[in-house]
Amino acid sequence: METSKLLSQGCPPFVIDHFQKKGITTLNPPQVKAVEQGILEGKNILACTPTGSGKTAMATLGIAKCLSDNKGAKAIYLVPLKALASEKYKEFQELFQSTKYSVGISTGDLDSSSEYLNKYDLVILTVEKLDSLIRHKVSWIHDVRCLVVDEIHLLNDPGRGPTLEVMITLLKKILKQVQLIALSATIGNPKELAGWLNAELVIDDWRPVKLHKGVYFGEGVEFVGNKQ
Ligand SMILES: Nc1ncnc2c1ncn2[C@@H]1O[C@H](COP(=O)(O)OP(=O)(O)OP(=O)(O)O)[C@@H](O)[C@H]1O
Ligand SMILES: [Mg+2]
Repeated sequence: METSKLLSQGCPPFVIDHFQKKGITTLNPPQVKAVEQGILEGKNILACTPTGSGKTAMATLGIAKCLSDNKGAKAIYLVPLKALASEKYKEFQELFQSTKYSVGISTGDLDSSSEYLNKYDLVILTVEKLDSLIRHKVSWIHDVRCLVVDEIHLLNDPGRGPTLEVMITLLKKILKQVQLIALSATIGNPKELAGWLNAELVIDDWRPVKLHKGVYFGEGVEFVGNKQ
């Protein structure tokens, strides 16, 4: 599907411009599925697709649509690592460049309610920071209409998984009108997770680069099958 066709699906034009600047002119099969399953209609989505298959672009569609449809609404993009937060921050700064929207980032200072975050439309947070904001009862949380949970397989992490699980449970309770977009390349039990999240499951094994299995030995790699 050509990205220009997204206009007729209600996608804000600035997203299409942003995609075009990044060389995204055609949606790949997993992204087409995400659109068909309602990512632009506020539906909860669990995308379980390989690494590099463009899950950020799926989240971008959901966030941009949510902000443009709901005046005063906010969005949160949740990541497990600080390094990932900076990467996403840069990307969303580019997205919002010539729009009225703004993006903020906060990954530290867990003792502060960081009220300044209130001025942003989209906030990139680590799991621990969002947990702290909820504990500080920050008022703007109630304006959140789109919540992206990137690398949601973190739920399986024995150390940090429970914090994320409790947080999602709590947010589902507090935020009655939130669109949840959960992303991962590696989920063992996608159907079960989609059920828990009350989400449409976008599952696809399309990869931008084909994977080949091989054994490295001595001077080279011996591939299984035909690959040389
Ligand atoms: N439809 C598309 N056409 C061309 N390039 C695309 C398309 N969608 C995404 N990309 C590019 O593919 C790259 C990988 O995308 P992205 O980081 O969103 O992958 P991902 O699914 O989140 O992977 P991971 O599971 O490793 O986080 C980015 O550089 C992005 O700009
Ligand atoms: Mg990703």
